[in-house]
Amino acid sequence: MTSATGTPPVLRLEGVSHTYAGQRRRTTVLKDIDHSFERGTFYTVLGPSGSGKTTLLSLASGLDAPTRGTVSFDGQDLTTLGLGRYRNRHAATIFQHYNLLTYMTAVQNVTTAMEITGVKPGPGGRRARALELLERIGLDKDTATRNVMRLSGGQQQRVAIARALACDVDILFADEPTGNLDEDTARGIIDTFRELAHEQDKCVIVVTHSQRLAARSDRVLTLRRGRLTAGKGPR
Ligand SMILES: Nc1ncnc2c1ncn2[C@@H]1O[C@H](COP(=O)(O)OP(=O)(O)OP(=O)(O)O)[C@@H](O)[C@H]1O
Ligand SMILES: [Mg+2]
Repeated sequence: MTSATGTPPVLRLEGVSHTYAGQRRRTTVLKDIDHSFERGTFYTVLGPSGSGKTTLLSLASGLDAPTRGTVSFDGQDLTTLGLGRYRNRHAATIFQHYNLLTYMTAVQNVTTAMEITGVKPGPGGRRARALELLERIGLDKDTATRNVMRLSGGQQQRVAIARALACDVDILFADEPTGNLDEDTARGIIDTFRELAHEQDKCVIVVTHSQRLAARSDRVLTLRRGRLTAGKGPR
C-alpha cells in the first residue's frame, strides 16, 4: 500500500502476529497487526504493562522476526533487506533498559554507535559531535567521560538517547524513554523528538505509559489484548 504521495510508508506491518513459546504453553502477544508509519510523524503507542509494547518495537526495529506477517522498510521486506542491515543503517532504538556498553564511557558509547551506523565524522570528528549531543541533553564533559556504570539511572537513559540521536537514521524507536527523567529533562527530550519528525522528516515511534508524552505526539496508537488501534492524535 502507498501513501497519498505515491511513495510506500517508511515502515509497514502487515498481518504481524507474535507468539512466545513458554515451558508449558505458548502465548500470543501480538495478533494480526496491520499498520503503516510515515516519515515526518511522531507516534506514541500506549498500552498497559505486559501488553506487548517492547515486543512490537523489537519486531518493528528488526531485532526479532515476527512469527507471522511481514515488516517492511520503504516497501522492502526486512527479511530481504536483512535485519542487521536495517538495524545498522536505517533504525535506532532507545531501549527500555538502555543496553549501554558497560565497559565504556558515555561518549564512547555514542561514538561506537556512530561508527557502526557509518555516520560521517564531520569537521570536529565523532567525539566532538558526541560530546555536543550529550551536552545538549544535560551531560557535561566530566559526566560524559565517566564509565557508564558510574552514572545515575537518568544519566544512563540520556546516554541511550544521545546514542540513538547520533545515528541519523530514518526511524527512531524509543521504549519508555523518559521513565527515569525529571519533568524538565523529559520535556526537552520530547521537544527533540518533535523536531526530528517535523524538521528532519524522521519517523519517531515511542512506546510509553505516559499520557502526557502521548499528548505531545502526532498520532496515538493503543495496544491492548494483542491488537493495535489508532486514534487521531492531538495535532
Ligand atoms: N522472551 C520472552 N519469552 C516469553 N515471554 C515473553 C518474552 N518477552 C516478553 N514476554 C511476554 O510477552 C508479554 C509482553 O511483553 P512485553 O515486554 O512486550 O510487554 P510491555 O508492554 O513492553 O510491558 P512493560 O510496559 O511492562 O514494559 C508479557 O506477558 C511477557 O511476559
Ligand atoms: Mg516494555
